[in-house]
Amino acid sequence: MVITQDELVCMDLPTPFDENLGTVLVAGATGYIGGRLVPELIARGYTVRVMVRAESPEHSERWPEAEVVVADALVEEELSAALKDVDVAYYLIHSMLVGPRRFQDADTHAAHNFRVAAEAQGVKRIIYLGGLGDTQKNLSSHLSSRSQVAGEFFKGSVPVTVLRAAVIIGSGSASYEMINHLVRKVPLFLVPAWAKTKCQPIGLRDVLKILIGVLELPQSAGRVYDIGGPDVLTYEQILKTHAEVLGKKRRFIPSPISSIGFYSYITSLLTPIPAAITWCLMESVTHDVVCEEHDMWDLIPFRRITCKEAFVLALSREEQDTVSTRWSDSYPPDYELAIKLSEINGSPTYTSSYSLVSSKSAQSLFRSITHIGGNNGWFHSTFLWRIRGGIDRLLRGVGTTRGRRSASGLRVNDVVDFWRVEKIHYSRQLLLRAEMKVPGYAWLEFRVDPISGDKNRLSVNAYYKTKGLWGRTYWYIFLPFHHFIFDDLIKQIEKRSAE
Ligand SMILES: NC(=O)c1ccc[n+]([C@@H]2O[C@H](COP(=O)([O-])OP(=O)(O)OC[C@H]3O[C@@H](n4cnc5c(N)ncnc54)[C@H](OP(=O)(O)O)[C@@H]3O)[C@@H](O)[C@H]2O)c1
Repeated sequence: MVITQDELVCMDLPTPFDENLGTVLVAGATGYIGGRLVPELIARGYTVRVMVRAESPEHSERWPEAEVVVADALVEEELSAALKDVDVAYYLIHSMLVGPRRFQDADTHAAHNFRVAAEAQGVKRIIYLGGLGDTQKNLSSHLSSRSQVAGEFFKGSVPVTVLRAAVIIGSGSASYEMINHLVRKVPLFLVPAWAKTKCQPIGLRDVLKILIGVLELPQSAGRVYDIGGPDVLTYEQILKTHAEVLGKKRRFIPSPISSIGFYSYITSLLTPIPAAITWCLMESVTHDVVCEEHDMWDLIPFRRITCKEAFVLALSREEQDTVSTRWSDSYPPDYELAIKLSEINGSPTYTSSYSLVSSKSAQSLFRSITHIGGNNGWFHSTFLWRIRGGIDRLLRGVGTTRGRRSASGLRVNDVVDFWRVEKIHYSRQLLLRAEMKVPGYAWLEFRVDPISGDKNRLSVNAYYKTKGLWGRTYWYIFLPFHHFIFDDLIKQIEKRSAE
């Protein structure tokens, strides 16, 4: 999705464009914040290099003006080329999805490698966006990992600018989607004592302005800045603010249950966000996350948007279907390095195919294919997938209700509920890879193939690669449902496509 001029938010920044600045690297460009920052930097005129973990044709389509380098921050040798001739590097890498036990180690290791490589390559500055929280207190593993990464950068000789933010509210952010789904679905909130903890949320557009503002102000090097919006609110007040924006009457009653595990698990079942993320975000709710100093607003003076304004803007982006990045853009750990269908050894172990012949045009059939999932569901099999997804969520998997970034458009790597787009060949092929907990690898392919007499064959092919006995058993358990699911799927896609 190309960002239009109207969607750019840094046009009115008071800081001047730095014409002497060479290459700017964005590490974590495929993530939620990085994905929004790159187009802003390009629009401002900077030479941008984006660092991604896996090569994909989508990257050069998404950022035609940027140079794309492939490097994993956990592999030190790969970072040298990524950081070569870089003036300023943004560090927006985060491994939250690997789960609370592993992410702290992964984050510190990645930051260490990045610092060492940046020193060796003579990088002039690192800009790091981390989390707010009183470092003297016993912070959650999520918040303490953010502060350990900052500490790692301060150990080195490359000057660093650290920005510390609490909840960032913007369309597609995990925090926003959690709040939005909860307020829409839950009429009565149980309020534990920690819901009175204070938080200073900030709008995504203000974070982007600050990220670019500090790039243009070299005097911000060597400093830690706390950044937050104008409101300091309790978590209960944040939910109430959003209920007011949505025009929903919601009741809040005190609850004796304070277990964060309980609330984060329930939240993962009620929202598109998997348990690994709800836990990391909610684990921090017992600590006030409020700015301890306010120097940023002297350095870069502009009017910050309120929490309510941030909710309104996020909602309108959703309504206009212009969400450009989403929390789900980053891979879940089991699929970080997932092999593609074209990369597997030999052919898939099992294949199931269904097709029909249609007189509708290839374009309209394909358009209908690209609307599946999300709010449109999976037609008559939606219920079956929900049950399967419920089991997945109980097993702390990604579930089947992650939704979609855009209701109408798809790009490579977009999530469609429990699938991720592996390949799109417009009007011909859509290949999806499963990201649920499956004993093997699974793909779903939709094809539109021209046949004689202006007709097209619409087909759906399920591919499954497994080695183990459990994987084979799994296939045979689901086989009886295939006819019902896939036959209905292509009939509905055909029916819903325009003439
Ligand atoms: N989002 C918020 O609400 C929020 C709030 C406060 C602070 N922050 C801070 O802002 C920063 C960015 O957050 P985000 O929400 O944009 O994170 P995110 O969406 O989870 O993105 C993380 C990025 O890190 C990349 N990554 C992970 N492991 C990597 C590795 N080993 N090597 C190279 N790249 C790797 C991911 O690449 P893949 O796509 O390949 O997985 C992805 O691009 C974080 O430091 C976070 O603490 C965010």
